[in-house]
Amino acid sequence: MTLQDTLEQTARDVERMLDRLLAAGDGPEARVVEAMRYGTLNGGKRIRPFLVVHGAALFNATPTGALRAAAAIEMVHSYSLIHDDLPAMDDDDLRRGRPTCHIRFDEATAILAGDSLLTLAFEVLARPETHSDPGVRAELVVALATASGAEGMVGGQMIDLWAEDHDLDIAAITRLQRMKTGALIRFSCEAGALLGKAPEAARHALMAYAHDLGLAFQIADDLLDVTGDAAAMGKRAQKDADKGKATFVSLLGVERARDQASMLADQAAGHLDMFGDKAEPLRDLARFVVERSN
Ligand code: IPE
Ligand code: IPE
Ligand code: MG
Ligand code: MG
Ligand code: MG
Repeated sequence: MTLQDTLEQTARDVERMLDRLLAAGDGPEARVVEAMRYGTLNGGKRIRPFLVVHGAALFNATPTGALRAAAAIEMVHSYSLIHDDLPAMDDDDLRRGRPTCHIRFDEATAILAGDSLLTLAFEVLARPETHSDPGVRAELVVALATASGAEGMVGGQMIDLWAEDHDLDIAAITRLQRMKTGALIRFSCEAGALLGKAPEAARHALMAYAHDLGLAFQIADDLLDVTGDAAAMGKRAQKDADKGKATFVSLLGVERARDQASMLADQAAGHLDMFGDKAEPLRDLARFVVERSN
């Protein structure tokens, strides 16, 4: 199977799980469920689910547990995008090739849909179907909470907004990116290790992979904002410079940012040596992340 086939297969599997977990509601509150479904079942690349599923496979974790954790991280990621697109944040009208959630519904509904995706993610992790060991479920919940909150994604989003009016150096941008994007990518890898009760050394290797991959991923996103095509990406281009966002590209320029991303992708793949051929999908993903056009 090529990486593209594997990505599509994982996307189908996680979408089936999301569809089940987001059953349409009844009554006037059904509107928020409709917005949650709109914001998640809309053709993202499903990179984070891929990391959970193929990380978990290294340790022979059960497929159902992996898919539930994959759905949970995709809910948090999708919530972060719904809120990221709001007028108070990046003010975007296009996401995954369709009108953003607040354009299709309204701002209040988009806020509520995001809130509810966030809480549902934790419910999914905490339920016994995710893992038979309650200790593992608690570890997953703590890890996702840490990755999503003020020490992780939300903290990164806060710095991202603050940086619109402040100058950041490379160290500060690196920290911003590691929090804003890296934290959820790190959780995605950590989830596989937790589900499979991975030995310490294996877990460290996977975390080192996540560390480099997360940064490479956000540099690639920033490059696409400058060089990418809105139709291919399904979101608007040229937004970061307009908003005065601090990115690797604004500081290093396109060429050096591209070299940096490529170097980080190689370095990420290099951390997986101990897993042999089993880690091939994760190695391929590292390349894909920096070569993608969407
Ligand atoms: C976009 O993430 C937002 C960032 C964290 C840079 P993705 O590029 O993974 O978006 P989807 O899920 O494929 O739409
Ligand atoms: C968003 O980063 C990251 C999160 C939602 C946490 P961006 O603002 O760069 O993402 P895009 O470019 O809108 O997808
Ligand atoms: Mg943003
Ligand atoms: Mg944005
Ligand atoms: Mg971006």
